[in-house]
Amino acid sequence: MTASAQRLPPGLLSVHVLPADHHDGPWDHIIVPSGTKERLLNQALLTLRHGRALATLAGLPHGLIVLSGPPGTGKTTLARGLGQAAARALAPAGATTYVEVDPHAFPSELLGESQRNVTRLLTETLPELAQRRPHLVVLIDEVESFAVRRSAAAFATNPVDVHRATDAILAGIDALAVDHPRSLVVATTNFPEAVDEAFLSRADLVVGLDLPDETTIAAILQHSLLELAGIWPGVQPLAHDEGLHRKLAAQCAGWDGRRVRKLVLTALAQRRDVAEDPNQLHAEDLLLAATHGG
Ligand SMILES: Nc1ncnc2c1ncn2[C@@H]1O[C@H](COP(=O)(O)OP(=O)(O)OP(=O)(O)O)[C@@H](O)[C@H]1O
Ligand SMILES: [Mg+2]
Repeated sequence: MTASAQRLPPGLLSVHVLPADHHDGPWDHIIVPSGTKERLLNQALLTLRHGRALATLAGLPHGLIVLSGPPGTGKTTLARGLGQAAARALAPAGATTYVEVDPHAFPSELLGESQRNVTRLLTETLPELAQRRPHLVVLIDEVESFAVRRSAAAFATNPVDVHRATDAILAGIDALAVDHPRSLVVATTNFPEAVDEAFLSRADLVVGLDLPDETTIAAILQHSLLELAGIWPGVQPLAHDEGLHRKLAAQCAGWDGRRVRKLVLTALAQRRDVAEDPNQLHAEDLLLAATHGG
């Protein structure tokens, strides 16, 4: 279920009830070093399953996971996938509400308004959502625009407001962890150096995603071609040509995952007959697209 835009509380991009079959996919689509997904899922399950018991410990968990890394390395996709993967594992204990916060809804020109909006989100909207179902997962994408590092914001146009909004986030995260311990906040950032230190220090787990290495690039290409072959069977031989994937990966060294995924699209759009009928795609089209930079 997606609440329609008009009925969403302010500051939220979407609200879903998970698990839901159409949310399968992202978790498997992102190819990361072995162990990364397991660690993320374990951390999420620990919080969502045992948050109430853990909240009695002196070293209170904050139910916060931060994914950091360069643009196009799969942070948002992985965070979305984590919501679904955790919800699937937790399903016998009840459903999960999954919400995405709109970080750009908060920075405000008006003094004090950001703080009020953030406070409303964290002390009213999220707690209300947390009460609806046994588990709550919140994605705060691009958190650097939300929890601005106060030390670096001293000379910003509206430093007082930035300070207050960041303080409101920290207080809100602390309150959510205490009052609704079966809530998990997943935050992503391209710029960890712009995110407030006190926010980062609250994270129970920080995962850094790197640019894909050549083996990973080859695997992303293979996955993209297999998806394509599912629609246009003529692509099947290319999807199974591992030598081709390796050759392409060498040409794409240093690219981020988003650019690698786009390579296949570029290759489809270079020749009219391929654009008309993707079954006509040749290895040469892919190699040409890679030489041209995807
Ligand atoms: N490691 C990867 N494996 C497979 N696909 C990837 C990988 N990294 C990125 N992608 C693909 O690239 C696209 C962009 O991913 P996503 O938006 O999650 O990146 P991001 O890190 O959130 O980027 P940004 O910082 O710009 O928001 C998606 O289609 C995703 O499938
Ligand atoms: Mg993103």
